[in-house]
Amino acid sequence: MSEVKILPNIIFKYNYKPGFNVDKFKEHIELHGNKSEHTISEADGGITTAGNKDNPHFWPSMVPFINWLEPKIEIALNEWDVAYDTYFISKSWANLHTKGGYTKPHEHGPGSVVVSIYVKQPANGGNILFENFMRDKWIAYTREDKHNNIHDYWREIAVNTNDVLLFPGWITHKTQSSNTDEDRIVFTINYGAVIQGQMLHSDEIHITKRTE
Ligand SMILES: [Fe+2]
Repeated sequence: MSEVKILPNIIFKYNYKPGFNVDKFKEHIELHGNKSEHTISEADGGITTAGNKDNPHFWPSMVPFINWLEPKIEIALNEWDVAYDTYFISKSWANLHTKGGYTKPHEHGPGSVVVSIYVKQPANGGNILFENFMRDKWIAYTREDKHNNIHDYWREIAVNTNDVLLFPGWITHKTQSSNTDEDRIVFTINYGAVIQGQMLHSDEIHITKRTE
């Protein structure tokens, strides 16, 4: 028997051995974090810097990491048969969870490769969960009631400090609550891929402002 694979790999997991400057991320979150009780993505002790101007991927200290990451972006895009000649970072931000904090289920922008980078992932910090998007195909079958199998609603991926996950922007994901007094810090980057000649420039787009 040889296994016949008809689906691409969806989630890629790497480990970035040099690690990250945790204090610099803490400073960034302190300055730019949205500390309201609940944001669109975070709850119960979750702070995000999403939408801020100080995107961590611009930091000069990030150059070695971005250089390490980019061939892996191409591996994902090629695995998913994306037609592209150029790829770019649209934005990046950081999330911090204190005890009880978690990220609610969400997806990212269109056509993106999402990179989730575990700057600081303490023991019991809570793992990431991906929606088991094939689950409903199997509902007519008798099922084994087991955590993380094909019939479970979510697939838990164990993560540790310096792990780097790449996944497509369409897959719904969330985190478990942090169950430790230590902070969990996750840095996220959204990549887009395009065929540059097919991009419209701003002077080629007919824009109409919403009236009410
Ligand atoms: Fe996310």
